[in-house]
Amino acid sequence: MADIGTDISRAKALLEQGQLVAIPTETVYGLAGNGFDVKAVASIFETKKRPAFDPLILHTDTLEKVAGFVEGIPEPVRLLADKFWPGPLTILFKKGPLVPDLVTSGLDTVAVRIPRHPLTRDLLALLNFPLAAPSANPFGYVSPTNPDHVEAQLGKDIPYILDGGPCKVGVESTILSFEHEVPTVLRMGGLTLESLQEILGAVAVNAHSSSSPAAPGMLKSHYAPRKSFVLIDDEKAFTKPENDDFAVLAFDHKVKGVPESKQFLLAPSGETQEAATRLFEMMRMLDSRDEFSQIIALKVPEEGLGRAVNDRLKRAAAQT
Ligand code: TXA
Ligand code: MG
Repeated sequence: MADIGTDISRAKALLEQGQLVAIPTETVYGLAGNGFDVKAVASIFETKKRPAFDPLILHTDTLEKVAGFVEGIPEPVRLLADKFWPGPLTILFKKGPLVPDLVTSGLDTVAVRIPRHPLTRDLLALLNFPLAAPSANPFGYVSPTNPDHVEAQLGKDIPYILDGGPCKVGVESTILSFEHEVPTVLRMGGLTLESLQEILGAVAVNAHSSSSPAAPGMLKSHYAPRKSFVLIDDEKAFTKPENDDFAVLAFDHKVKGVPESKQFLLAPSGETQEAATRLFEMMRMLDSRDEFSQIIALKVPEEGLGRAVNDRLKRAAAQT
């Protein structure tokens, strides 16, 4: 059991000793350690059972601190930082010498984010190192969006969970790379494609599924629940499975001809933002209900945060 509380001095002390603390962000909870301390970083990989070829994001609270551990901040990145940081956007930079190779899995780029959650911002302001923090779930499982999710899966392995309540965005950050001529999204997430296009103009999306270490961050079976999980395009594609122990996860309206008790809606409001906030919570809930052995999900509208939601649904389905 981890302690759960809002004591940032305690979190600071533990992190300074090289221990791990779960932290709230607006996207999902992170499993945080001192990003300059190779031992702390190694214990993140160990605790998550994460393969060492999958690099971590560094979190800090100001652009000045970012400048201290990356090689230069290009002009378009300053614009983005002005507009979207703190927020659900992760940007790849050329890595500086302070960043251990273990953080970047040997790549010469480092992923950086200034998160928006006030408690974590207060904590980051007290630290003179960035926090390496992947989502606080065992590798390949659904990301945690409240402290109980973290406690259930990693509570026995960490001393403290900083309690920032439920995550407002609910899906991980959007990851953006400037390695190619056109800025490229490597993972759709909490910042919409539309918002990026407004500032940058053309933006490529390269969120390929791959199991190759050369394409980190895009492992196909990420975000998977443990049950059989099927994704269909829409209601027309729905056929009743042979076994009756299925549940249906749809966007904003129920599928005709399926009993109420089997139906779950991601966004009764019809807003893609609500679907993002509730996605992982709903996946966990359905995963834990013994009366269902199969989850049939329907795609949500491919706009706004719907893109990130569909991406996570596809990855969940890829596993089974
Ligand atoms: O919202 C988020 O991004 C959350 C919160 C805690 O900040 N973090 C998160 O971390 O989702 P994680 O480790 O679960 O996902 C980070 C992704 C990984 O898939 C990793 O492969 C990719 O970022 N990544 C990190 N550094 C990279 C790099 N240098 N090049 C390409 N991909 C990178
Ligand atoms: Mg993750």
